[in-house]
Amino acid sequence: MGKIITIIVVAVLVIWGIYYFVSGTPSSSNLNYSSSTPGTSSSTGTNTGSTSQGGTSTSVATSSKNIAMDIKNFAFGLTPLTVSVGTKITWTNQDTAPHTVTSVTGTELNSAKLAKGQSYSHTFTKAGTYDYYCTVHPNMKATVIVQ
Ligand code: CU
Repeated sequence: MGKIITIIVVAVLVIWGIYYFVSGTPSSSNLNYSSSTPGTSSSTGTNTGSTSQGGTSTSVATSSKNIAMDIKNFAFGLTPLTVSVGTKITWTNQDTAPHTVTSVTGTELNSAKLAKGQSYSHTFTKAGTYDYYCTVHPNMKATVIVQ
């Protein structure tokens, strides 16, 4: 009697596993492929107010004129971030460690050391690509694209 129950349980688990593998994995990746395929959307080309975060793709385009960005877990929250000329970005440090917002070249971004909870704001008035980093942790890098 015990053997029969064990065989039934194993059989159900195997069938469930096969079903999960066959139906779950391919359909979710198909969704990802179709949603990222260009040319199917009928928008005008601007991606108003939408942000995508998470995973390895963090590219963000926005038409908002005021953007709040957290510096958290030793990373700048939104990068690369595409904004329009005249956009003001406010960085706020959420880490206990101090961070800066500092241009890699030039002086466009030049914050003081930000303690936890402190912010730094900058309005971009010229188109261009602005690479910046944290002078305390030089491996923290990010990019703002102004167009
Ligand atoms: Cu830092």
